[in-house]
Amino acid sequence: MTPDRPPGARTIALVGLMGVGKSTIGRRLAQALELPFRDADQEIEAAAGRSIPEIFAERGEAEFRAGERRVIGRLLQEPRHVLATGGGAFMDPQTRELMKHRAITVWLKAELDVMVRRVGRKTTRPLLVGRDSREVLQELMDRRYPVYAEADITVVTDDRPANAAVDAILAALAGRLEPAVG
Ligand code: S3P
Repeated sequence: MTPDRPPGARTIALVGLMGVGKSTIGRRLAQALELPFRDADQEIEAAAGRSIPEIFAERGEAEFRAGERRVIGRLLQEPRHVLATGGGAFMDPQTRELMKHRAITVWLKAELDVMVRRVGRKTTRPLLVGRDSREVLQELMDRRYPVYAEADITVVTDDRPANAAVDAILAALAGRLEPAVG
C-alpha cells in the first residue's frame, strides 16, 4: 500500500447510508474548502461504461465492490479533494483500510425517516429495488453503523439544510486541515 498521508493533506471522504446526502453535502463542502469534488459512484460508472444498476444486474454485487475498491484506490492517489463514497464502500475491509490510511473519514448520519424520504422511489439503487426501503435501510443501519463508527469524525445531518451540515463538518475538521494549495 502507498504510504499514509499526513492528516492535514488528506482527502476528506464522506461515508454513510444511502439518502444521507453525501453527494449534495460533499459538493458544498468542496466549494467551502476550495477543493475538487469527486463522487465515487459516478467514477465507477465512468470506468465501467455502465450505470450502477447495470453493473449489479450484469456482473453482480461482488464485481461492483471490486470496481469500487479499484476506483477509490485510484481516487485516493489523487491530490486532496472531497470524496463522496457509496454507502457500502466503507464496509469493504480493503477499501476501509485504504480510506483510513489516506483520507479523513466523515460519517454522515441521519434518522431513518429522513433517509427513507430522501431515497424516495428512484430505481437507481439496486439494493432498494423491489423492496421496502425502510426495511432495507433499517437492516443496513444495524449491520453498518458499528463499522461506520470507525470513521474519524461523525456528523449528524438529519433534516438540516446542507449548509448547516457543511458548517458542522468544517467545525469538526478545524485544526485537522492544512490550507488548500493553489
Ligand atoms: C450502495 C450505495 C449506493 C451505490 C450502490 C450500493 C450501498 O451509493 O454505491 O447502489 O451498498 O449502500 P449511495 O450511498 O451514494 O446511494
